Amino acid sequence: MIYAANLKTNFTRTYTHKYIEELSSLHKKEDIYIFPTQSSLDNYKKGANLKIGAQNAYMCENGAFTGEIGVEQLDEFGITTLLLGHSERRNILKESDELIKEKFNYFKKLGYKIFFCIGENLDVKNKGLNETLKYNMGQLSGIDLDYKNLIIAYEPIWAIGTGVSAKTEDVDAIFNGLKKEFKTPLLYGGSVKSSNIKELSSITTLDGVLIGSAALKLDEFSKIINLGG
Ligand code: PGA
Repeated sequence: MIYAANLKTNFTRTYTHKYIEELSSLHKKEDIYIFPTQSSLDNYKKGANLKIGAQNAYMCENGAFTGEIGVEQLDEFGITTLLLGHSERRNILKESDELIKEKFNYFKKLGYKIFFCIGENLDVKNKGLNETLKYNMGQLSGIDLDYKNLIIAYEPIWAIGTGVSAKTEDVDAIFNGLKKEFKTPLLYGGSVKSSNIKELSSITTLDGVLIGSAALKLDEFSKIINLGG
């Protein structure tokens, strides 16, 4: 199982160090990815199983791209993992499918591990499974699904940060549909917590989880890792 924590715009650099060090001492085996704020990217003391990624980056080495970071800045901290297409980047920061695709292609060429997020809103979900699958596959159009360093995170927007996770049977149905289209590792995200991780991890096609709110409490994130198996 992959356990990925998207810390979003939370924690100071000092606290992020403490968090990563403690997490690293608690978990030695599982595949854990932490996406801290850009200001907390650093060279961390941590075990080999724990990896650090950036929540966003721009398709450049460096240059005049105010507010963005490029490869030169990522390289300084040995970052080779990126989160792309998170619904907050799409909806709040207005990143288009086109821009996300450009970023994907740029960082793919450089061999980055890419966590690529997809997920429908409530309107699409209410149209049923076929429409939901079509919508999610649409977000992957133009993305090389055979790219060996690609991990896809299915995160229904209506389940993100709401405390209401998608029902296990719904995730199962969508995962079955998606896994017919690609063999890429597939994560679920959207209100994952210690009280639902056991049920979610019973989904046979689930390769891991991407966690927001629940990862902000170290003991809760740790519990999720222990219970998820
Ligand atoms: P959540 O966020 O766990 O708070 O729902 C998930 C995410 O945005 O990746």
